[in-house]
Amino acid sequence: KKFFVCHSSQIAIVMAHINLSENTKLENEKEPIPEEDAKPENAERREFMIKAGSVCLGGVVAIPPIAAGIAVLMDPLRRKQGDADFTRVTLLDALPEDGTPKKFTIYADKQDAWNKFPNTAIGAIYLCRKSDGKIDAFNVVCPHLGCAVVFRESERDYYCPCHNSAFDLETGTQAPDSPSARGLDSLEVKVENEGEVWVKFQNFQPGIADKKAIV
Ligand code: FES
Repeated sequence: KKFFVCHSSQIAIVMAHINLSENTKLENEKEPIPEEDAKPENAERREFMIKAGSVCLGGVVAIPPIAAGIAVLMDPLRRKQGDADFTRVTLLDALPEDGTPKKFTIYADKQDAWNKFPNTAIGAIYLCRKSDGKIDAFNVVCPHLGCAVVFRESERDYYCPCHNSAFDLETGTQAPDSPSARGLDSLEVKVENEGEVWVKFQNFQPGIADKKAIV
């Protein structure tokens, strides 16, 4: 078996050799084939060089479309998810005026590397309307290990039943005897268009003291 490696300079040499061979062939139509060229081993060598040139040229021509195809296929993996956007959650009038928190599921268009999932539940929040008109928003995910907290009417706080973490209703700060390393994760809120409540929903990494968004 014969193995070979193609380089552009070698392709040029091979193609030049092919042209030379073709020219020689035309000349040979007029003149008798030289005795040296007529030898079987030289004819075999010439045929091998022509085939090698064709294979190399085909490989070079095929590289750009193959590379472009791979780039398109890998493109979604190279895209990075952007920052969280604000989501319209509810109307201001839907929130109790006495400061009792109300839970809302957050829906958004979700996307993985190749697919889009429109209007999918991506989490939940508590909204709490204060007497001064300010609105607090907390992600329901417990910062300890990721269970969901609930509003405890009897204690007027947020509570996680998994490992008994409790959080202040006003500030979200964890109670001193709670295993959670930080308070509830607050979210940005804005009121627009005469009473629409918009929240910048994000999830944060549980189990650490710092509030670090999951991107
Ligand atoms: S997950 Fe909430 S206290 Fe452990």
